[in-house]
Parts: sequence; C-alpha cells; structure tokens
Amino acid sequence: MKAITSPGMRLASILSVGLLCALGAFAAPARAAGDLPTITAQSWSFNGPFGTFDRGQLQRGYKVYKEVCAGCHGMKFLHFRNLGEEGGPEFSEAAVKALAAEVEVSDGPNDEGEMFDRAGRPADAFPSPFANAQAARAANNGALPPDLSVMAKARTGGADYLYALLTGYSDPPEGVTVAEGMNYNKAFPGHQIAMAVPLFDDGVEYTDGTAATLDNHAKDVSAFLMWAAEPKLEERLRIGLRFMIYLVLLTGFLYLAKRRVWGSLKH
Ligand code: HEC
Repeated sequence: MKAITSPGMRLASILSVGLLCALGAFAAPARAAGDLPTITAQSWSFNGPFGTFDRGQLQRGYKVYKEVCAGCHGMKFLHFRNLGEEGGPEFSEAAVKALAAEVEVSDGPNDEGEMFDRAGRPADAFPSPFANAQAARAANNGALPPDLSVMAKARTGGADYLYALLTGYSDPPEGVTVAEGMNYNKAFPGHQIAMAVPLFDDGVEYTDGTAATLDNHAKDVSAFLMWAAEPKLEERLRIGLRFMIYLVLLTGFLYLAKRRVWGSLKH
C-alpha cells in the first residue's frame, strides 16, 4: 500500500492527529470500576471542550438548594457574591443582595460581647443549618449531612452521580431489608442512605416555565453543585481550547518551516 505522499495530505494528517490529541485531552476521566453502582452519564451543557453552564439551570438549581438541601446541608466555601460572578448563575447585583438578605447569619461579638443575628450580605458564606456536627447528627438519625461545596468533585461520577443519587430512591428489591431510619437508593454505595427522599415532582416552584418535575429538580441542583465545585470551569475550557488551537497551528507552521529548510535537498 502506498503511504501518504502529497505534502498537502501529509499536512492534513498531521493536523488531524493534533486535533484528535487536543480533543482527547478534554475527554471525561475514566471511572473506577469496582463494585460501585453503575451511574448513567447524562448530557450536560458543561460537557465537552465547548461546554458552558446554562444560567437558567444554575438559577433554578440554586432555588432547589435553597428551598430543600439547605435545610440539612451547608456550603461553606460558597459566598452569596459568587452567585453574581461571571461563569455562574450570574444573578444581578440587586438579586444577589436580596438572596443574601433572605438568610440570617450569626455575627459578633458586639460591644457588649454578645453574638447576634443579622440579615446576610453578599460577602457572607452560605451558613450551615446546624450549630455543630453533633446537632446535625442528632437531627438526622445519627448521620452527618456533608457540606456540599465541593461534593460534585468529591464523588466519582460528579454531576452524573448526584443526579443518579437524587433520582435513585425506590422500594427495596425483593429480599432486601433496609435498616431502621435508612432508605433504599440504587445509586448510593451499599444502597442504604440516611438521607430521606429530598425531591418530588412539584417540590420546588419554577417561575421560568420549566416543568417542576423531580427529574428537572435533580438535574438543576446537580448542575448547580457542579458549578459550585468548579466555578472556573468555563474559563478553564476557554483557555484550554485556545491553547489547543495554538498547538495545532504551531504544528502546521513547524511542518511548513521544516519543508522549507529541508525541501531543497535532493533525496
Ligand atoms: C432532611 C435532611 C436532608 C435534606 C433535606 C437533604 N439531605 Fe442530603 N444528606 C442528608 C444526610 C443525613 C446525609 C448522609 C447520608 C448517609 O451518610 O447515609 C446526606 C447525604 C448527601 C450526599 C452525600 C452522598 C454520598 O455519596 O455520601 C449528597 C450528595 C446529598 N446528601 C445531596 C443532597 C441534595 C442535593 C439535597 C437537596 C436536593 C439534599 N441532599 C437534601 C440529609 C439531607
């Protein structure tokens, strides 16, 4: 068989190999196998080299977090001002102020040495719903609801896992008994989780016309938690893509330069 001969074809093949390598660098990381439940990959707007967050989805996701999850889970690395920053839900400045003011935060001590509660400000971190871990366990049948700030990065499967977990509740299969205070969940390792079913159809009201289904609530809050865990995702992808384009162009130029330098030599 004859190999690629014309310089044009050779350049094209070098460029396409470069491009494939570039795209490969963005591919989802391989998942560890083992006996973890299988998690189905969902199609997310932030997947792939051109991924971006869907602002509307992040705003709905915050609403789900605020109205449901925040009852048990804090997000101590997130500040209200982050909700208005580029690459996130991008709430307006006025909306961020209003959202912060909806929560009470503990501040102080004041001049009398007392702690006091006040309305939240954009600079405040999301407050924890419990005073301490013991109080959190006492309210949750002995289990500690973990902080959700970086949960999407802390679990294998990321947003896919969160979605599978939130939609994974069902009656236990025949022959499986669930311990007192635990719930069957097909996505949770071991299948018994202390968290009660948090989401239902119509559990959270949506005002942008999106159907308020369990499925959408789970998708939206998972996307929101993904952004919270990686707020610079869009920027990272943008820089990565530019760098890859640069590398591909550089490969082409180097090839042309090489031909120019060596082309005059007779074989
Ligand atoms: C009534 C309290 C409560 C609410 C509301 C709640 N959770 Fe939980 N959550 C828990 C508890 C308790 C655990 C620890 C479960 C365990 O370890 O068995 C938990 C664990 C988790 C975990 C960790 C699972 C793992 O892999 O370890 C995630 C993720 C999670 N919750 C997400 C959410 C989201 C998202 C919401 C809102 C849609 C939510 N939770 C609402 C109590 C709650």
